[in-house]
Amino acid sequence: MAIRTCFSAFLLLLLPLEFIAVMGVTPPPPLPLPECRPIVALDRDLLQFALNLEFLEAEFFLYGALGDGLDVLAPSLALGGPPPVGGRKANLDPIIRRIIEEFAYQEIGHIRAITESVGGVPRPRLNISAEAFAAFFNRAMNTTLSPPFNPYANSLNYLLASYVIPYVGLVGYVGTIPNLVGRTNRELAASLLGVESGQDAVIRTLLYLRANEKVMPYGVTVADFTDRISEIRNRLGRCGLKDEGLKVPMQLGAENRTTSNILSADADSLSYSRTQPEILRTVYGTGDESRPAGFLPNGGAGRIAVRFIAT
Ligand SMILES: *[C@@H]1O[C@H](CO)[C@@H](O)[C@H](O)[C@H]1NC(C)=O
Ligand SMILES: *[C@@H]1O[C@H](CO)[C@@H](O)[C@H](O)[C@H]1NC(C)=O
Ligand SMILES: *[C@@H]1O[C@H](CO)[C@@H](O)[C@H](O)[C@H]1NC(C)=O
Repeated sequence: MAIRTCFSAFLLLLLPLEFIAVMGVTPPPPLPLPECRPIVALDRDLLQFALNLEFLEAEFFLYGALGDGLDVLAPSLALGGPPPVGGRKANLDPIIRRIIEEFAYQEIGHIRAITESVGGVPRPRLNISAEAFAAFFNRAMNTTLSPPFNPYANSLNYLLASYVIPYVGLVGYVGTIPNLVGRTNRELAASLLGVESGQDAVIRTLLYLRANEKVMPYGVTVADFTDRISEIRNRLGRCGLKDEGLKVPMQLGAENRTTSNILSADADSLSYSRTQPEILRTVYGTGDESRPAGFLPNGGAGRIAVRFIAT
């Protein structure tokens, strides 16, 4: 007993030495690539940047659930921005419609909260047409789906299309919060992130329940679709693996112990984060923050997005 205690004490003594030695030889973690580093911007501009995703989600959810957008539900929040292109009421089951309708109203609240706290920006031109989603899905699947993917056709397609968007908003907030200076701004962004990640979790859970189902008429499972969507977002973002489908190899699952991946997160189950340029590369679908297209054909609103186009 005494010997063991003595030995333990000896180990305890060694511990700090070993710690220091390790600290001495371990190189600092590599700096991220220049295109992956956080940008420098004012709190106001960072929060206004988030409006781009909030507008996109608001319009897609409002149209999908109700067949009308912000111009009918909360016209003052669009601040005179052009109406979105191609939104339609989706052919949804009653329960999914309820859920999406709630998400839609939440997005209106988010736009109002940001606008009231740091001022708004006019809604950017948004392309939420079936064709815009079809183009994104073709890129994800690296093929021309026939018939073209239609997000508005049924609940499953709509959920798959929804898989594309709130996650990008979520990782954007995670990336933004550490760079906000003002305490109230950080609190606002954290509260926005709370609901955004909740939406993403609900969408992913609903899809997980149908993970093995084949999406008709393509014969590709829901899980495979999510895998390919996550893959294309990683490719477009150009900053490594920050996005995972609903089923993953064990070594990417939580604690390396599961292949289900209802929440996408890193080795310590912490949320991935993305910078504003990574987000633009993804929602433009061009992999280039200076080349708008896709869901934001004329580029994002606010100083940050505009600055990348101008340079
Ligand atoms: C919307 O996207 C589709 C598919 O990429 C494209 O054909 C259409 O021209 C776009 N509309 C606008 C206004 O950008
Ligand atoms: C996409 O498909 C083409 C031709 O089928 C193939 O050459 C290419 O490697 C594929 N790209 C990816 C990223 O899978
Ligand atoms: C899981 O596996 C990865 C390597 O694939 C390793 O880096 C990580 O430490 C493992 N995590 C746990 C909790 O075992």
